Parts: sequence; structure tokens; C-alpha cells
Amino acid sequence: MRSDLLVRSATPRDAPAIHRIIDACAADGTVLPRDQEDITLAIPSFVVGVVRGEVVGCAALVTCGPSLAEIRSVAVSPAGRGTGVGAAIISHLISEAHFLRFDRLFLLTRIPEFFRRLGFRVVDPDALPDSFLSDLVRCQKRSLFNKFVMTRSLVNGPIDALGPGFAGAAGDAGVPAYPSRPDPASVETVPAGVLVGAAQ
Ligand SMILES: CC(C)(COP(=O)(O)OP(=O)(O)OC[C@H]1O[C@@H](n2cnc3c(N)ncnc32)[C@H](O)[C@@H]1OP(=O)(O)O)[C@@H](O)C(=O)NCCC(=O)NCCS
Repeated sequence: MRSDLLVRSATPRDAPAIHRIIDACAADGTVLPRDQEDITLAIPSFVVGVVRGEVVGCAALVTCGPSLAEIRSVAVSPAGRGTGVGAAIISHLISEAHFLRFDRLFLLTRIPEFFRRLGFRVVDPDALPDSFLSDLVRCQKRSLFNKFVMTRSLVNGPIDALGPGFAGAAGDAGVPAYPSRPDPASVETVPAGVLVGAAQ
């Protein structure tokens, strides 16, 4: 990680910068667009990466139930990419989620490889409880099209990813090439009820 990077909770004054960064990524559909007012109201859920006083990346931790949270709006400014900002922001949110005693994180993404390095596993959407999917798609109007659902357990602490999930570690089955269906060998089995909290 670069030494001049600070990852901290966002403040309302960061909303314009977060909006610009998300907007730049939203054009190709990799991140859902959000307007500045929505970001300002949701600011307590955001963390930002700051380099020399400038906000260069962001992500949000959204409570979905008593034990489940979602990571959303992950974006780094084009100029700030490739220097560890994105990984540092996600690691920060994983620690925060662990501190808040969530058992599990999930996210929707088109770039599973980036998140796999951080301990997330692709799950087969067909194996998820109907209530979870219908809440995502019907209530939140989220599309699963061309996206992987990934989850990460927090029960063994914030750095449990650095076991079998760490890049190159033994037993690392890899992630199937987008947009094919996940290889069953790389798909985590989600215990019944784990994600049900999201639908409440
Ligand atoms: C994806 C994104 C957040 C990554 O941020 P970043 O600061 O460039 O990533 P980092 O520098 O922390 O990269 C950490 C590792 O992930 C890898 N990585 C980065 N982007 C990746 C991608 N799109 N796919 C696969 N691996 C990726 C890096 O090579 C690096 O690996 P290394 O540790 O072996 O060098 C950033 O590229 C981005 O904003 N992309 C557009 C929006 C987007 O796709 N958001 C995710 C929506 S779910």
C-alpha cells in the first residue's frame, strides 16, 4: 500500500468528490450511478481513500440485516488506480464490518478476481434463498445480469481471507472467466439462512 494513502470515514464535504468518482465509473455500468444528494444522505456508510488531501476512492458498507452487510459503490479515480487504493478501502471496510460484528459480507460485481484476492468467494445465485434474490431484484431494483454474487465470512476475523482465499494459495480454484457460470469447485456453499437477513 502506498505510504501517502489515508483511508477514513467520509464526511458530508466529501460528497462532491465521491459523486465525481462514482460518476466516472458509472458510464460503463461497472458501478451504479448515485446522485450527490443520495450520497450526502448515505455519507455515514462511506469510507474514502485520500492521497495528499484529495479523495481518490470510495466504497460504502450497507447494513442488510443483523448479521449481513453489503459493500457497494466501490470506485477509484482513474488516476489513482493500480496503487493499492481499492484494496486498502475494501480491507478497511472488512475490518469495520468485523468491528460491527457482522458475520458476513456480500457484494455484486463484474470483477470477481479483484475481490477474490480480498477473501470473497463467488456464490451460485441459484443457491441463494429466494427471499434474498427477490429483495435485491424486486425491492432494490438491482440487476444480477452479468454480475457475480460474492460473499465473505467474517466469523474468523477480518484477515481470515489470507488463508485459502489468498492469491496463489493451495486449493485456490480461481474464478471462472466472466460471463460464464461459476465453476462449482470455486463456489462457496452458503449455509441455509445465512443471507436471509438481507430480505428483512
Ligand atoms: C476495481 C477498482 C476499485 C480497483 O481499484 P485499484 O485501486 O485500482 O486496485 P488496487 O491497486 O488496490 O489493486 C489491488 C489488486 O487487485 C488487482 N486489480 C485491480 N483492478 C482489478 C480488476 N479490475 N480486475 C482484477 N484485478 C484487479 C490489482 O492488479 C492488484 O493486484 P496486485 O496486488 O497483485 O498488484 C478500480 O479499478 C475501479 O474503480 N474500477 C472501476 C469501478 C469498478 O469496477 N468498481 C468495482 C465495482 S464492484
